[in-house]
Amino acid sequence: NQVPPTICGLPLKYVSLVTLAVQNAALSIVMHYSRVSTPPHLAYSPASAVLLNELLKGSISFFIALSHSQVLTDLNSTRQRKTTLGSISLWMTAFWDIWGEILSPDCWKLSIPAILYVIQNSLQFVAISNLPVATFQVTYQMKILTTAAFSVALLRKKLTGTKWLALLFLAIGVGIVQIQSATGAGIKQAIPKAANAIGSAQEYHYHVMNPLKGFGAVTAACFTSGLAGVYFEMVLKGSKADLWVRNVQLSLFSLIPALLPILYAPAPINSKGFILDIFRNFGGWAWATVAIQVFGGLITAVVIKYSDNILKGFATSLSIVLSFLASVVLFDFHITFSFIVGASTVLAATWMYNQPERPASPPPLFVLSS
Ligand code: C5P
Repeated sequence: NQVPPTICGLPLKYVSLVTLAVQNAALSIVMHYSRVSTPPHLAYSPASAVLLNELLKGSISFFIALSHSQVLTDLNSTRQRKTTLGSISLWMTAFWDIWGEILSPDCWKLSIPAILYVIQNSLQFVAISNLPVATFQVTYQMKILTTAAFSVALLRKKLTGTKWLALLFLAIGVGIVQIQSATGAGIKQAIPKAANAIGSAQEYHYHVMNPLKGFGAVTAACFTSGLAGVYFEMVLKGSKADLWVRNVQLSLFSLIPALLPILYAPAPINSKGFILDIFRNFGGWAWATVAIQVFGGLITAVVIKYSDNILKGFATSLSIVLSFLASVVLFDFHITFSFIVGASTVLAATWMYNQPERPASPPPLFVLSS
């Protein structure tokens, strides 16, 4: 029996789930603020952020895959007897060994989720720029619905009546949140109190949100999330390849669709060269957004490995509560009755969907005779 991995004495499974919930909440808030706090001509390019995300995530995954290499495990066990030159040679062997695994003949399978994730990550920028943080978070829960649909269609998963009912509640809850946003109650331009304190609240007024565009983007992102997730699951379960090697393959294939919009974008009037152009207007908030996204991608991988998708759903619903509370404190988010009803329905549906299935009733232990 393998001992479950721990971090600082705590089970990695639960640490990764709580971290994912905090990461989800932090990403919505930081990404939203990074987009709406600057006038359009000073905004950073979301396409560059998506590219940077893949470059960083792929590099980190590569080093993790390298550190897991069997060749290096052998090096550790014989470290005392190895010379410096011998160690370097083993590192090089491990390096080429990992590249061999990455460029395995079945690596093309990752091209489909890679393209879908790039589209999803780009749509996320459109959605978060046009919806209040809490509304975005709740509406994005529709991905549970799309994930279920694709799981049934592609993985032939069977869903119980309770789960289908939970999905129906989810759709109703998301609908209620949409109604209150469409009436404009929640789309009021918010002024972040935190930004006020640092004197940049004026900048927040430059951005005008378009809720219809936001909902369109979030709906499309839910479809790509469901399809990409189920496809990634199919690839992972269909082979024994290391999760981190799969992550590198995913990032490598993402580079092509992530680069295309950058290469075809018109050069700015005061061009400063390709690299400086694509990272134009990258300030602290943009870097923070990319860092949280990279961290999220890595944590998602850990959650898939040490936990499961059911618990991942719980972590995401917890993140709604976190980001909602943060929106009230940091941004002037208006709590409306319909938001509370809609958000509560979504949370209740998420809870219902994640209930363990009742096993077939066991035979009675004792038969009472009169
Ligand atoms: O919301 P959802 O769970 O679909 O988001 C998945 C996110 O995690 C995407 O941004 C995707 O790029 C990232 N991801 C990753 N590595 C994986 C799976 C997902 O970076 N193996």
